[in-house]
Amino acid sequence: MSPLKNVPVKKIGVIERYQEFLSVSNETPIISLNEGNTPLILSEALPKELRLSNIRIYFKFEGLNPTGSFKDRGMTMAVSKALEEGATSVMCASTGNTSASAAAFASRCGMKCYVLIPEGKIAKGKLLQAFRYGAKVIIVKGNFDVALELVKKITSTHPIKIVNSVNPYRIEGQMTAAFEICDDLGDAPDHHVIPVGNAGNITAYWRGYKKYKEAGRSERLPRMLGFQAAGAAPIVLNRVVEQPETIATAIRIGNPASWKGALEARDESGGLIDSVTDSEITWAYRFLAEREGIFAEPASAAAVAGFVKWARKGYFEEGSSVVCTLTGSGLKDPEFALSFEDSMEAVEPRIDAVLRAVQA
Ligand code: F0G
Repeated sequence: MSPLKNVPVKKIGVIERYQEFLSVSNETPIISLNEGNTPLILSEALPKELRLSNIRIYFKFEGLNPTGSFKDRGMTMAVSKALEEGATSVMCASTGNTSASAAAFASRCGMKCYVLIPEGKIAKGKLLQAFRYGAKVIIVKGNFDVALELVKKITSTHPIKIVNSVNPYRIEGQMTAAFEICDDLGDAPDHHVIPVGNAGNITAYWRGYKKYKEAGRSERLPRMLGFQAAGAAPIVLNRVVEQPETIATAIRIGNPASWKGALEARDESGGLIDSVTDSEITWAYRFLAEREGIFAEPASAAAVAGFVKWARKGYFEEGSSVVCTLTGSGLKDPEFALSFEDSMEAVEPRIDAVLRAVQA
């Protein structure tokens, strides 16, 4: 057996890749899990289903990040900068993905991590991630908006860094997804479709697209199309929703922190922010997995549902390109995933019994 050569491991995290666009210096300690560089997958089934043979739709599958969601792009920045500034602990409120990501990056650099989670409304996979990465999990009797207010107040008077997307480094890091899309396609797409919860991501993508164009790395800007769940659609309704409700628990948010950023993205790009119902989200969630082979979580499917809704209205012109961000992995929410199967009974270990089950 020949010994392994000592080849240096190539770092491919988003900070190293896009340093020139980010607020880091050579002194910034980079806390990375090689996040980013996620695939842009061309849809096969959706254009056929909608009879749109001349439209290309790509899925930017962010569920393949190290903790299973897009949050890792912003978290590598937020935690690296917190460490540079001398912080020893971080805190966030979360519907689940932010807390999983914060906990992982904090664990990687020996920081303490406190996460505030809305009681009963978080997907199991996300909760267990926060525990296993060693965070202190605090379950709050209230929704995400209530938890975020608490985190803002606590971190403004205690030496704990907030790593929700009100932390500007989070938004900076999340811009890198737009950069990757331009690098992969050779330019920005005509339309970008994205789910909207706390509205940090739509804000980040739009800033990212603008920055890349200003730097001469792309030539066009997309229209930004954001989608909220109908029961949690404050931006669409133009008012705070006190009791947000949706099966897409990741975006069960009634008072988004980056409300203004979302409006900017919509208005400057000539796009729109609309809502989709839980049944539209569920249809898209199942279609993605059962027809495209992509298992994304319900909140991600909200974007696809939005695309379908507007495609059926004839919104997308012939020949256009559309990128849809699939924000998180379907594995995060096993309970929702299994809710469609009414029978999981075992059969006798006999050929006839198996064949009967095959034909059932
Ligand atoms: N999709 C998923 C899977 C999410 O986890 C989130 C937000 C969004 C979409 C919406 O992104 O907030 O930037 O508009 N999750 C946050 C969390 C709120 O706590 O994990 P946004």
